[in-house]
Amino acid sequence: MDMGLSNKTALVTGSTRGIGKAIAIELAKEGANVLINGRDHDEVERTVNEIKSNFPATFPQNAASDIVSIQHREALFCKFPTIDILVNNMGIYEVMQYEDIDDEIWEHYFRTNVLAANGLAKFYLPSMLKHDFGRIIFIASEEAIMPSGLMPQYCMTKSMLLSLSKSLSKLTIGKEVTVNTIMPGPTLSENVQQIIEDMYPNDDRIFSEKEKEFMTTNLPQSEIQRFIKPIEIGKLAAFLCSPYASAFRGSPIRVDGGMVPTIF
Ligand SMILES: NC(=O)c1ccc[n+]([C@@H]2O[C@H](COP(=O)([O-])OP(=O)(O)OC[C@H]3O[C@@H](n4cnc5c(N)ncnc54)[C@H](OP(=O)(O)O)[C@@H]3O)[C@@H](O)[C@H]2O)c1
Repeated sequence: MDMGLSNKTALVTGSTRGIGKAIAIELAKEGANVLINGRDHDEVERTVNEIKSNFPATFPQNAASDIVSIQHREALFCKFPTIDILVNNMGIYEVMQYEDIDDEIWEHYFRTNVLAANGLAKFYLPSMLKHDFGRIIFIASEEAIMPSGLMPQYCMTKSMLLSLSKSLSKLTIGKEVTVNTIMPGPTLSENVQQIIEDMYPNDDRIFSEKEKEFMTTNLPQSEIQRFIKPIEIGKLAAFLCSPYASAFRGSPIRVDGGMVPTIF
């Protein structure tokens, strides 16, 4: 299926690894010119080169920037004043005890997971509305609607993204611009794989066996009993960016392996 994304310009934040990289690859596969982002310039350049060699008809570019910093965001806006697609993927997460989370940590999570994404949306939405085409996707989490209690500082920020997405969607009435949120469940980014490996030190079993045990012990409510593959999120994101997904408006879209037990 041709998703109609050829020559669209797509900024995917946090796209040198994990879910963000998978989204960038799926967009490039559909002919989009992806702007690769991360804080490490060389790592971004490596990803750009990898995408260029796999999808030579596209023009991936280096958008290295620490998007939590207002000054860095402004430099990014000067370099890339207009885009068609913004995927606000970058986010931090860590298991923390509620008692250990001080104001500084709450603020750090708010700035990183909410204000950075909001800053980008605020800058790019007006030009999308002006050109009558645009896609903004926020990557939240199943924890946005089903906080596990294991990382309150994270869940709060992901719930906020759902609200922000709907508020922004209200500004798109009558336009070919959409704002939506994807809520992935536990997904096997390199970071998550390392976290799991660290939970089983001195254990010679192959990863899939550790994964199986982890699922049974820690995530029995998952209906797929495996981690979601980043490509599964990438394919969904590419569809949501396509012109065929115009009717998704301010929607929180679950791709959680069945983690959330309710219908809505
Ligand atoms: N993995 C899961 O199980 C899961 C489940 C639900 C939702 N999510 C959400 O999905 C998103 C991606 O998760 P992931 O596991 O794929 O993440 P990840 O593997 O930790 O990847 C993080 C990416 O963000 C970049 N990054 C970090 N801080 C940055 C900053 N300040 N400015 C620009 N780039 C920055 C990293 O590159 P540098 O470090 O070089 O900057 C890297 O490219 C997050 O929002 C997360 O909350 C993940």
